[in-house]
Amino acid sequence: HPHRWKLRHHPVMRRGKRVMIIILDGWGEQIADEYNGIHVAATPTMDELKKTAPDRWRLLRAHGLSVGLPSWEDMGNSEVGHNALGAGRIFTQGAGLVDVALSSGKLYEGAGFKYIMSAFAKNTVHFMGLLSDGGVHSRSDQLSLLMKGCAERGAKRMRVHILLDGRDVAPGSAPKYIDILEKDLAGIRKMGCDAMIASGGGRMAVTMDRYENDWGVVKKGWDAQVKGEAPHKFPTAGDALKKLKEADAKLDDQYFPPFVIVGSDGKPVGPILDNDAVVSFNFRADRMVMAAKAFDLEKFDKFDRGKMPKIKYAGMLQYDADLDLPKHFLVAPPLIEKTSGEYLVHNYVRTWACSETVKFGHVTFVWNGNRSGMFSSSLEKYVEIPSDKGIAFNEKPEMKAIAIAEKAKEALLSGKFDHVRVNIANGDMVGHTGDPKATVIGCETVDKAVKIMLDAVEEVKGIFLITADHGNAEDMVKRNLKTGKPVVNKQGKTEVLTSHTCNPVPCIIGGPGLAKGVRFRKDLPEAGLANVASTFINFHGFHAPWDYEPTLVEYDEKEK
Ligand code: 3PG
Ligand code: CO
Repeated sequence: HPHRWKLRHHPVMRRGKRVMIIILDGWGEQIADEYNGIHVAATPTMDELKKTAPDRWRLLRAHGLSVGLPSWEDMGNSEVGHNALGAGRIFTQGAGLVDVALSSGKLYEGAGFKYIMSAFAKNTVHFMGLLSDGGVHSRSDQLSLLMKGCAERGAKRMRVHILLDGRDVAPGSAPKYIDILEKDLAGIRKMGCDAMIASGGGRMAVTMDRYENDWGVVKKGWDAQVKGEAPHKFPTAGDALKKLKEADAKLDDQYFPPFVIVGSDGKPVGPILDNDAVVSFNFRADRMVMAAKAFDLEKFDKFDRGKMPKIKYAGMLQYDADLDLPKHFLVAPPLIEKTSGEYLVHNYVRTWACSETVKFGHVTFVWNGNRSGMFSSSLEKYVEIPSDKGIAFNEKPEMKAIAIAEKAKEALLSGKFDHVRVNIANGDMVGHTGDPKATVIGCETVDKAVKIMLDAVEEVKGIFLITADHGNAEDMVKRNLKTGKPVVNKQGKTEVLTSHTCNPVPCIIGGPGLAKGVRFRKDLPEAGLANVASTFINFHGFHAPWDYEPTLVEYDEKEK
């Protein structure tokens, strides 16, 4: 049987209602105290929603196993969150797939590994990626296993190009991860392999830009990693961190400038040369796609790469299957098919999706199961609002929230679209800077944006669904996970939290178009983001596909 795209009509919720889906990035639920940026912010619209319709407000799980991550200790993130929201099902994600490929040894039998092995005997294998155990883009324990695996299989020379985190893990924790890596490298040297760190830089300044916001970031990485050129040169990564921090005490891990490690002769210890292999060890795509293009594409015009070495490049995962990017990879990515967006198109639901650049791919590419492009150019429209460039978002915490809301309003009022979907990024992007004051301003702006969009829903007698992809802004401090109380360190101070959280997120439904008597079911207390797709498919007038996680709503027969 060919796959059946046609969805059955819903008996209560009728076709033809306009539906607004609002994803508040990084907006979780947490104790209402002074460290909760959302609580501190004036958010009259969101507060009102929570108060007025208790059977249309609930919490959803957005972390750990509920979004396909290896453990309940794993905080949520935008990639796995938007995958679950758009696909209506839970898929084992990159982190878990790499774990299994490494522990089973399957990784070493794959074509991607064979491809890089040709550099083992006479050339260098380079590893490039985010050095932390955040588990969002990469994990340092996976890097460590992979390096050992390569040494055991004959690699004679290795160089590591590190990107400092401080965004998915504590700011200032970079030296800890460098220490662990240096110990690993010492172990590998004992195996007869010449192994060391060759370059580095902060993830927001070097290499890990996303959605083509700023190619200059990728170029800085390229110059340091490939050419061995950077404004700062040090004998070790430990020195680099110490000296750069001494020069600028306010410098956070994530914003470190690029640096190159040089030998006693002053020459870089690990530029990327002809016949070398290069592995980018991040499993998550969004912030490695741009670098992957620079390393993998023959034709490339985003910046001048200089003389392009003939390398064998592989990604830990394939980052974009549609673009076949990169062509070689160590672990196959999750196959996320039959997403809600594709169903909507097959059932003639006209879709409009929008965010600003830094989250644009989240509500399009990631929402659609990591798929580039549209399902139907006649039924869909995707709009990107350019993000501010070259700043940390605490400098402009309003971001583009209001502009996105105005555009969404216009799209809804136009009558040209049935499904209007946005991501409002402030809670997350400003939350990641660890700046509480700016985060509060960001959250207040989010609330204003929501108001604009809900007014539009009211005007067209439509339906809304507001939720979030994971927590962030509700926790501006490191907390004791059991008590929720801030952790106080030896100096008697609380510690800034820049990362996401394991908190649940709100889910709110309503609008004049939502049939009376439709309310949240009580029998799904453990529901998560993957239950959202069935819910909005109902709002469009259909039963969800049979294999989707169950809908969150029921209707009171008496009201029918
Ligand atoms: C980032 O890439 O900015 C963080 O690591 C994760 O944030 P996101 O999952 O919200 O994009
Ligand atoms: Co984030």
